[in-house]
Amino acid sequence: MDVLTAFLLLVHLIPVSATKNAVSSKSRKRIMPDPVTEPPVTDPVYEALLYCNLPSVAERSMEGHAPHHFKLVSVHVFIRHGDRYPLYAIPKTKRLEIDCTLVANRKPYHPKLEAFVSHMSKGSGASFESPLNSLPLYPSHPLCEMGELTQTGVVQHLQNGQLLRDIYLKKHRLLPSDWTTDQLYLETTGKSRTLQSGLALLYGFLPDFDWKKIYFRHQPSALFCAGSCYCPLRNHYLEQEQHRQYLLRLKNSQLERTYGEMAKIVDVPTKQLRAANPIDSMLCHFCHNVSFPCTRHGCLGMEHFKVIKTHQIEDERERREKKLYLGYSLLGAHPILNQTVSRMQRAALGGREEIFALYSAHDVTLSPVLSALGLAEARFPRFAARLIFELWQDREKPTEHSVRVLYNGVDVTFHTSFCQDHHKRSPKPMCPLENLVRFVRRDMFLALDGSSTSYHEACHREGI
Ligand SMILES: *[C@@H]1O[C@H](CO)[C@@H](O)[C@H](O)[C@H]1NC(C)=O
Ligand SMILES: *[C@@H]1O[C@H](CO)[C@@H](O)[C@H](O)[C@H]1NC(C)=O
Repeated sequence: MDVLTAFLLLVHLIPVSATKNAVSSKSRKRIMPDPVTEPPVTDPVYEALLYCNLPSVAERSMEGHAPHHFKLVSVHVFIRHGDRYPLYAIPKTKRLEIDCTLVANRKPYHPKLEAFVSHMSKGSGASFESPLNSLPLYPSHPLCEMGELTQTGVVQHLQNGQLLRDIYLKKHRLLPSDWTTDQLYLETTGKSRTLQSGLALLYGFLPDFDWKKIYFRHQPSALFCAGSCYCPLRNHYLEQEQHRQYLLRLKNSQLERTYGEMAKIVDVPTKQLRAANPIDSMLCHFCHNVSFPCTRHGCLGMEHFKVIKTHQIEDERERREKKLYLGYSLLGAHPILNQTVSRMQRAALGGREEIFALYSAHDVTLSPVLSALGLAEARFPRFAARLIFELWQDREKPTEHSVRVLYNGVDVTFHTSFCQDHHKRSPKPMCPLENLVRFVRRDMFLALDGSSTSYHEACHREGI
């Protein structure tokens, strides 16, 4: 299959999964593969198409669904940045030509695109913690820079923001119309693509927001662990996980052969090609319907792409089984989950600050959080992926609060390790906040080693 055929398949696929009739069990398949109905061999092209996450017209989502007597109290949104230019170039090939300026006559388009650009050009450094104030507020290079957010990436997050606006503001009135600075908590890593993604989502959520009321904090760590990043055992798990990856790669002779062929085409040593992580660049070609690069020795092709993508899927499968990544994730995700739980507890006690929190982040942020929550089956975070925690109050029993967890619009609350047995034990329709609190403050350490009772203790245990 060539890129064009894959693209035609995509154009056909997206509306199918977004039709009005699609029920939630159907959309669940998109993040949680269903062993009964999905083919046992995952199709690498289908998976790559989901990863691109090209904006579709009518996305269905389950955010904001609760029984009538529940009131929405706070919302905590974790996003991966939108579609971006590759982080690495394929050696000795012509640079992929993608235009990162934002223009109305290019697809995908969003009706708020021009207003977004005009609003961003009025922004001031005072709304950003240093060093964010030195970053551009929207992508603008006619030839994208490495890692730059594309128009697709901006549109994906304008769309996310508008979807959340319709549900949380219009339907549930989470924020009053005269909302204040304190009611939002905004945080991003120091890359232009995360800052710009956060701004696009915020603009879709609160169009024409008052710049004076916005303050984005800077998060230096992709794990959002600032202040609690030192954790020796987490690093130990990560090294073991990387060793597992290395061994799996060595076992895959087809993969080695493919890298060898590709290295010959671009005329560099295999090692150098592998180090350049060609799948990242090839995915960008694929998502943008640009054919893979050629040299005078031949062309990189869909067959190479499929072999590497298939290996990635296999790697994720083994990663779930071996549990080293789970160890890494439980420790890596603790600080941000702990912070989120604290914010939810303050809101549950009636606090009116930080009731909408947005963390603009990376795949390496979302992936450990998903794994730590027990959502190991969830697909790897696609471009503009969103993971949302909702806090609800039972109006009939105002001291009782519940949480919902949504990944890309799918309700995964009852797949999490802290609520998967809920229906067996309780007749309540919603998952109690206490379950999440107990998990983050205690059970996630027990899950790790059976005896640690705190993050500090778990991080400093000897060996595994
Ligand atoms: C993909 O690119 C080809 C030419 O390279 C073009 O003919 C085709 O229309 C494009 N497909 C889509 C869906 O944009
Ligand atoms: C978790 O949150 C509590 C309450 O806010 C705080 O006292 C504690 O230091 C946090 N622990 C970590 C490891 O961040």
